Amino acid sequence: KSSLPDVRERTLIAVKPDGVQRRLVGRVIQRFEQRGFKLVGLKMLQVSEELLSQHYCELRMKPFYPSLLHYMTSGPVVVMVWEGHNVVQTTRMMVGHTNPVEARAGTVRGDFGIHVSRNVVHASDSLEGAKREIQLWFQGKEEHATNFATLWLH
Ligand code: TYD
Ligand code: MG
Repeated sequence: KSSLPDVRERTLIAVKPDGVQRRLVGRVIQRFEQRGFKLVGLKMLQVSEELLSQHYCELRMKPFYPSLLHYMTSGPVVVMVWEGHNVVQTTRMMVGHTNPVEARAGTVRGDFGIHVSRNVVHASDSLEGAKREIQLWFQGKEEHATNFATLWLH
């Protein structure tokens, strides 16, 4: 038995409509798989304003909120649940700063984005936020158990 400390978490990642339209879904997924995280939920959907208003409830009073809703409902998004050690913090680092002008090269936003309002991906920003967002976006059976994919691993 390994004694490596394992902080097993889940987080919500979404490829936003601009990312889907620009065919970046595969490359976003590849980065998280390559890093060692495990995909445990995945779907593509047209988001309702109702769901988004809950997802972004903390931003309701921001001046950019109406345009954020318009953008996020402008086409389908690909939403995922990822699992692994420190996945919340690590995927936030991999996604990069909210504003691509501040995002480092090597991050998703630093490599693929130029505008804060078209920043390609969403990632939960805390463990609490991740739990709330996963509950909001996924029904229980759409999220898979931790060890579903070990059967063919040797
Ligand atoms: P926020 O939760 O602050 O950023 P992050 O996505 O990095 O967690 O904001 C949510 C989204 O709102 C952000 O990804 C893009 C949009 N947004 C704007 O359009 N303009 C802005 O000035 C900010 C701060 C965010
Ligand atoms: Mg956020």
